[in-house]
Amino acid sequence: MGQRHVDFFNRPLHDLRISVTDRCNFRCTYCMPKEIFGVDYPFMPPEHLLSFQEIERLATLFVQMGVRKIRLTGGEPLLRENLHLLIEKLVAIPGLEDIGLTTNGFYLERQAVQLKQSGLKRINVSFDALNDPVFKSMNNVGVGTKRILRGIKKAMDVGLEVKVNMVVKKGVNDQEVLPMAHFFKNLHVTLRFIEFMDVGQTNGWNLQQVVTGKEMVEHLASQFSLKPVMPSYKGEVAKRYQYEGTETEVGFITSVSQAFCADCTRGRIAADGKFYTCLFATDWYDLRELLRSQTSDDEIMAAIASIWKTRTDRYSETRSSQPEKNKGKIEMSYIGG
Ligand code: GTP
Ligand code: 5AD
Ligand code: SF4
Ligand code: SF4
Repeated sequence: MGQRHVDFFNRPLHDLRISVTDRCNFRCTYCMPKEIFGVDYPFMPPEHLLSFQEIERLATLFVQMGVRKIRLTGGEPLLRENLHLLIEKLVAIPGLEDIGLTTNGFYLERQAVQLKQSGLKRINVSFDALNDPVFKSMNNVGVGTKRILRGIKKAMDVGLEVKVNMVVKKGVNDQEVLPMAHFFKNLHVTLRFIEFMDVGQTNGWNLQQVVTGKEMVEHLASQFSLKPVMPSYKGEVAKRYQYEGTETEVGFITSVSQAFCADCTRGRIAADGKFYTCLFATDWYDLRELLRSQTSDDEIMAAIASIWKTRTDRYSETRSSQPEKNKGKIEMSYIGG
């Protein structure tokens, strides 16, 4: 079958994020606040989740349409049983250049070898503080830093490329910015500082809790010499710098203060097969229904193409001018980071 690149407003569909579960063993305050995601929270029943076979079929079709990068996410993807079997299938898709995984690191020490053996090359670990009480208060389930650091070390030892993502909340973990920078620079691990975002409707977001990328760069510049690095692709999520005299990078994800919607090439599939064209979307398209009916590959691709073509998403650019759009946004744990 020939290539059918979907390109609209110069925003091809290049990057696909697939959530493999809506569950997580953490309750990060910025993502799954405990008051909402309590023991009674109605997570998806297993039959609602796409099977590995269904994910593989969709991934293959998306790659035929021009997707080059797939990120597995969640909830916490390492909670999905036998995830390595899915990765093995994805690795074998011709034309797919990059597979990433975003994890909280809790099961990393245990799963790193299997992940590596499945063909995965790189992972991004969410880790918000080196200070144990601060980290525990942010994950809200009392998990300490040592376990995650052991997971990171193990992943590096087995040869996975590791990046660390730190969501920065003012008054909560902003004092951790410099210690985190020193620590991960010494480990030669790329650390990305993320502005706290208003995803979903439950994390109590307000602008006063956002430390901007600019503020963080200035803060870092007080102790480090930073050299800007050119983006490696148009619409790259992180603004990247190198610590002078080293190969080690540090990044800033500024989706609140400097939106990057204009070049956004990311589509998202939730764990139940709903396709979203923006992290902040309120509408979806049910791909599971197509997969579970007798729909042909061509028909599924035609449906995806028509959705992507009519896409007008640029939420991060319009959040303050159109506050009414905030209603009905889905949660990050559901749609996947
Ligand atoms: P690499 O492929 O390693 O460069 O990772 P990435 O930066 O593409 O992905 P990652 O999942 O690590 O993204 C880090 C964080 O950036 C996410 O958890 C979000 O907070 C934010 N982010 C990623 N993509 C988008 C996006 O399309 N829109 C917005 N607003 N934020 C995003
Ligand atoms: N703001 C910014 N990033 C968030 N994430 C989850 N919730 C938020 C938020 N409110 C991202 C973090 C984490 C990934 C799983 O999702 O980057 O690493
Ligand atoms: Fe879980 Fe990641 Fe959300 Fe934290 S940010 S609650 S680890 S899905
Ligand atoms: Fe893309 Fe939506 Fe994020 Fe903008 S807010 S960068 S359109 S996912």
